[in-house]
Amino acid sequence: MLNDPDFPLFLAPMAGVTDTIFRQLCKAQGADVLTTEFVSADGILHRNERTQEYIEFDAQTERPLGVQLFGGDPERMAEAARAVMDWVHPDFIDLNFGCPVNKVVAKNGGSSLLKDCPLLERVASTVVKAVGASHPGVPVTGKIRIGWDDKSINAVQIARALEGCGIRRLAVHGRTRAQGYSGEANWDVIAEVAGTVRIPVIGNGDIASARDVKHRRDTAGVAGVMIGRAAMGAPWIFAQAKTFLATGEIPPEPELAARWEMIVGHCRLAVARRRHGGERAAMASMRARLMAYTRGMEGGRNLRGQLSHVASVAELEDIAVRHLDDVERKPAAAECVEV
Ligand SMILES: Cc1cc2nc3c(=O)[nH]c(=O)nc-3n(C[C@H](O)[C@H](O)[C@H](O)COP(=O)(O)O)c2cc1C
Repeated sequence: MLNDPDFPLFLAPMAGVTDTIFRQLCKAQGADVLTTEFVSADGILHRNERTQEYIEFDAQTERPLGVQLFGGDPERMAEAARAVMDWVHPDFIDLNFGCPVNKVVAKNGGSSLLKDCPLLERVASTVVKAVGASHPGVPVTGKIRIGWDDKSINAVQIARALEGCGIRRLAVHGRTRAQGYSGEANWDVIAEVAGTVRIPVIGNGDIASARDVKHRRDTAGVAGVMIGRAAMGAPWIFAQAKTFLATGEIPPEPELAARWEMIVGHCRLAVARRRHGGERAAMASMRARLMAYTRGMEGGRNLRGQLSHVASVAELEDIAVRHLDDVERKPAAAECVEV
């Protein structure tokens, strides 16, 4: 069953970003529903170690959680979905029909299925039947873009087809495949989908603040929203949005010291979890995350220069202490000048 709260906030699946550590962090900040990054049906069936890392989750803190699969072969997708259910027991299986990456599209996966509705339907219905037979009651959900390009926007047709196949909830990212991540998400199309099908539609694209969440709730007719890139730099967006929806007040962003504590804590967990390559490799893989976390911080340029070669948690802690010192000393210095 999908026991979503009134207006659920979803953390968008993001490859290389939404691992178990970040998912737990966002959950603690109020994200209601989590999804793993996408994994290929073949990766699941070969049970490779990388894939295992992608789909592992903490059953105490990450539910409800879905494992997202991609692939264009109905039978292999169904077999993979059943294998995932036996392997890690997620709350739902999510099918990716939106990934724009060439490597995925070339193998008939992700958004390429938006161009081939009969195959998309076969993938969806074969997975729904297989999961229904082996794990009754476990829902299969989907995530789509609004079409392949601006001449073939077909999200409404795709959504109807998926609903007919037994897909139980649909996330719609309001861009075409051709757009990649450029331009703006088209929320008119998302609203049209939400107004057409009976299954819950989760709107996704360019939500950057608690106000955006409320605006889309009030205007797009969606059952919930999904937040991706904005959460990378500001996971507290979920908590802010929750409070805003409930009370009309937006809580302030965490203080600088609390932000650094969260950033350092995230890195510490990433280092502890790293199976190969040790601390240096773990910190290297965290650099893009550090850039996102520090966007908008005072002295950002200088800070990012230092973070671009940080190699250990101890080094990061030093940078954080120096930054806090600099920022805290600044107003005092300014006051002295004025006096
Ligand atoms: C780095 C990155 C990785 C992504 N990986 C996935 C993925 O594995 N599966 C998926 O369905 N979408 C993926 N997406 C798309 C996001 O889930 C989301 O649809 C998109 O970022 C738009 O939402 P936003 O404007 O809130 O970021 C990814 C996006 C980014 C930026």
